[in-house]
Amino acid sequence: MCGIIGYIGDRDGLEILKYGLKAVEYRGYDSVGYYDGRLVKDVGKVDDFLKKVKDVKVPFIAHTRWATHGKVSAENAHPHKVGKIALVHNGTIENYKALKEKLPYEWKSETDTEVIAALLDYYNEEDFLKTLEKVLPMLKGTYALAIIREGDPRIYFAKKDTPLLLGIGEGENFVASDLVAFLPYTNRYIRLEDGEYGYIERDKYVIKGRENIRPQTFEGDIKAAFKGEFPTFMLKEIHEQLDIVPQVLSVDVSEVREIFQTQEIDIIAAGTSYHAAWYLRYLTGFNVHPYVASEYPYLMREPKWVFAISQSGETIDTIKAVKQAKQKGAKVISLTNYVSSTLAALSDYVVPLNAGIEIGVAATKTFLAQLLFAHNLIGDKDIKGMKEAVRRGLEAPLFELTKPKIFFLGRGINYVLAMEGALKFKELTYVPAEAFPAGEMKHGPLSLFDKDTDVVFFLGPQGRELAKVNMEEVRARGANVHEVIFPDKYYELSATVFLQRLAHEHAVRWGKDPDKPRHLAKSVTVE
Ligand code: AGP
Repeated sequence: MCGIIGYIGDRDGLEILKYGLKAVEYRGYDSVGYYDGRLVKDVGKVDDFLKKVKDVKVPFIAHTRWATHGKVSAENAHPHKVGKIALVHNGTIENYKALKEKLPYEWKSETDTEVIAALLDYYNEEDFLKTLEKVLPMLKGTYALAIIREGDPRIYFAKKDTPLLLGIGEGENFVASDLVAFLPYTNRYIRLEDGEYGYIERDKYVIKGRENIRPQTFEGDIKAAFKGEFPTFMLKEIHEQLDIVPQVLSVDVSEVREIFQTQEIDIIAAGTSYHAAWYLRYLTGFNVHPYVASEYPYLMREPKWVFAISQSGETIDTIKAVKQAKQKGAKVISLTNYVSSTLAALSDYVVPLNAGIEIGVAATKTFLAQLLFAHNLIGDKDIKGMKEAVRRGLEAPLFELTKPKIFFLGRGINYVLAMEGALKFKELTYVPAEAFPAGEMKHGPLSLFDKDTDVVFFLGPQGRELAKVNMEEVRARGANVHEVIFPDKYYELSATVFLQRLAHEHAVRWGKDPDKPRHLAKSVTVE
């Protein structure tokens, strides 16, 4: 959940550092740093950090952190330098304490990362690939690493279970945790596989054990990686939902449709993607069973088919659950925005989400695209009707939530909207907001309701009459009820856009950055 960028070439190091760090900042943003022969790092936002940077030498490696081991502090920020080795890391090393005990170093940080630098320094050999070959198997855990060794002109790298890509340019090369970190400079890239390591030079890249590698070319719209005239990525991505309807529905799902129609399928997903799993269940009535990815290993039986939903394709919980299902013999279908992701590589069938790059930490257009996939699956491709519904969601006036207790309620498929509404709201505003199925209130939660309660009630056609009864029940307890009203036709799509705007608006009003909610990151690559 940290962002990595490393560069070697002739361009101005400061320009690449600035662009690259901003591009990967969504992956983690509690501290930041770089190494270019000098070790510079601090806590705080990338923008504040960059204001103080005057020049950067090449090659450099840089990092934005989402803390796992050790508090947010300058010492714990990356890069970590031990002896001749400086490195940046995304991932977690489970056995770092045991490794530390065996090494004769004084530790400057509380991180699990510093021990990797120490090991590489301790076993440092002339041929550094041999050092990597020796040290990497000692690490129990996950890692994407970019490494500079004093006196060595290369940037070394290694990857296991968290994403790392090489950007291949003319007379320059990049290593980064996301394509967007180098897309303005080159659209040719290599997605590294688990267990791979190697190095980049200005005119050369070497991946140990892989020869004749042909880089892939990114053909997507790079403009998606910039905010343009919008104040936040999230707002831009909310508005893009109008345009993505045709492109998402153009995906051919005929092959997987047949599987959904005839097979029993476990759906594995996390967060917003998990809500999309329930949407699919309510909308299609197919024989599918949604599971939270991190819980699936405890619940799995003998699945024949699993369907993994992940916009990033890199969510570790989802990937691990899929791996375990595969071990039990399951076949895997995945729906992801990144067809070259780790998840896609594990899958028998990959359905591209086709939503375009999403930068904001909150999933918005990718959620809508996941909902549209469910419509596509049942042969519903009413592009015009869906676009009109999205437009209604974009234009509807918002209401204001002011109470200390906030609930999102709905029945049937409206409960999916309630779950997503509450998640978006708490994720962005840091105000507790909970979702319940409206009919479940009287089994306990109703005792929470009084005049200090705001309720957002989704009243789409499914279960509406009973939902209205439940709405009166909470009103009678003094709660301040806000009805989400839209025409029945694609009510859920209008309400989806509306609930995203509601969360965005309140976050901005309350001084929170919707693109970078605290403690979170876009792709969750730690367990
Ligand atoms: C959504 O706003 C969240 N940031 C989060 O719940 C996200 O949907 C979840 O982490 C799953 O990500 P994925 O779709 O990339 O697997």
